[in-house]
Amino acid sequence: MTKQSDSEYWNNIYETKVENEVGWYQEQPSQSLNFIEAAQLSKDAKIIDVGGGHSFLVDHLLELGYHNLSVLDISEAALSKTKKRLGERAKYVNWIVSDITNFKTSEKFDLWHDRAAFHFLINAKDQKTYKNLVKTHLNSNAQLIIGTFSKSGPNRCSGLPVSQYDLENLETFFAPEFRIESGTNFNHITPSGGKQHYSFARLVKVD
Ligand SMILES: C[S@@+](CC[C@H](N)C(=O)[O-])C[C@H]1O[C@@H](n2cnc3c(N)ncnc32)[C@H](O)[C@@H]1O
Repeated sequence: MTKQSDSEYWNNIYETKVENEVGWYQEQPSQSLNFIEAAQLSKDAKIIDVGGGHSFLVDHLLELGYHNLSVLDISEAALSKTKKRLGERAKYVNWIVSDITNFKTSEKFDLWHDRAAFHFLINAKDQKTYKNLVKTHLNSNAQLIIGTFSKSGPNRCSGLPVSQYDLENLETFFAPEFRIESGTNFNHITPSGGKQHYSFARLVKVD
């Protein structure tokens, strides 16, 4: 039997589950929006949501008047769902189907957001690639908002193993180019009532 690729794995999830059947579902991405408000960006800021899936974050950002938005995901099926939900408004977003570890761009962003995608990178090579991407593709003083399962959270997500981080690990991992401006831990309550303990941090590029 041939091994299922990562994109097939994720496409299958998005094609077979309804929106609120997945653990990470949330209509109101409150923590992300709080950090984005705290980042005090101009409405022209270039923002990318990495592993955005069918997150409602992009809907909220459009509503708030941000208009330089990209959403990247390994799953074309996930992005199709999000585009369908947005309807006409989807044309204001740059949609990128890519494994983040193969992402090639000449663009630089002012804000990089990632809720529960980075933690799927469990080997050092992929983690290093990710770090190089944020270093290279964020402008000076840009911000990085990242949410992962915490050290006391689940060690698997969607059937896959994840790397867990506490706030200190996140800061150490992204240092010295980034430092934490603020961070928090909390339980995300899944649609089925389960608890997932997250570490969520807003980091600023130091150079
Ligand atoms: C747990 S979901 C979170 C989705 C979204 N960030 C949210 O908060 O609703 C993880 C997402 O990361 C995507 N993903 C997983 N591995 C990825 C990779 N290597 N590159 C890009 N996206 C990836 C999945 O397709 C999925 O949409």
